[in-house]
Amino acid sequence: MPPLPLLAVLLLCLLSPHPNAAATAAAGSPDPTPTPWPHQFHATLLMDYHGNLSLADLWYDWPGGRNLHVIRYQLAADAPYYDAEWNNGTSFFYTPARRQCRSAAVGVGILRPDWLAPGAAYLGRAPADGFDCHVWTKADFITYYEDASTGRPVKWVFYTGNYRLVNHSTLTFLLLLVLIYDLILGAQSVFF
Ligand SMILES: *[C@@H]1O[C@H](CO)[C@@H](O)[C@H](O)[C@H]1NC(C)=O
Ligand SMILES: *[C@@H]1O[C@H](CO)[C@@H](O)[C@H](O)[C@H]1NC(C)=O
Repeated sequence: MPPLPLLAVLLLCLLSPHPNAAATAAAGSPDPTPTPWPHQFHATLLMDYHGNLSLADLWYDWPGGRNLHVIRYQLAADAPYYDAEWNNGTSFFYTPARRQCRSAAVGVGILRPDWLAPGAAYLGRAPADGFDCHVWTKADFITYYEDASTGRPVKWVFYTGNYRLVNHSTLTFLLLLVLIYDLILGAQSVFF
């Protein structure tokens, strides 16, 4: 039997439950703050953009300054599609099956592990995909659901319309993400 992959071990260490997450929601206590992302993780995302479905593996590597999305659109013959983002502001988009690659100067780096907390407004508790979640919104363009008992992200929803541009690098990054992919209406973390 092969040894447990290092990443899985890392995940087990990094993603251990946050015991205080539920307690902070008690009546009278201050609003909970979003749990920062682990500095390295792999997540599988189910994405739905107006009914266009895709499965994406997200490899987030904050110390390495890089972020890799491997996206498989439903029934796409040329899958997968890769999007590698570097913290120096360069992104590469490539489809090996078609031997195509292009780069873009996105101009900002990857999301910080605590990107959500500054400026996020707490909306309270709500169920999402069967999980009892804390919900935050930020700058009127993202709603983020986090499992109240473990602090893990469950779901986030981008609003591609009616957002306002805020002069903040992480927000700019997210807006660019929306523009570049033009796909993410809802992204749901099915494994984190
Ligand atoms: C979904 O969107 C992707 C990216 O634009 C596209 O390549 C794919 O063909 C779309 N799938 C369907 C079923 O329209
Ligand atoms: C950013 O880093 C990547 C990976 O090392 C590199 O390929 C790319 O050329 C760099 N971009 C700039 C603008 O330095």
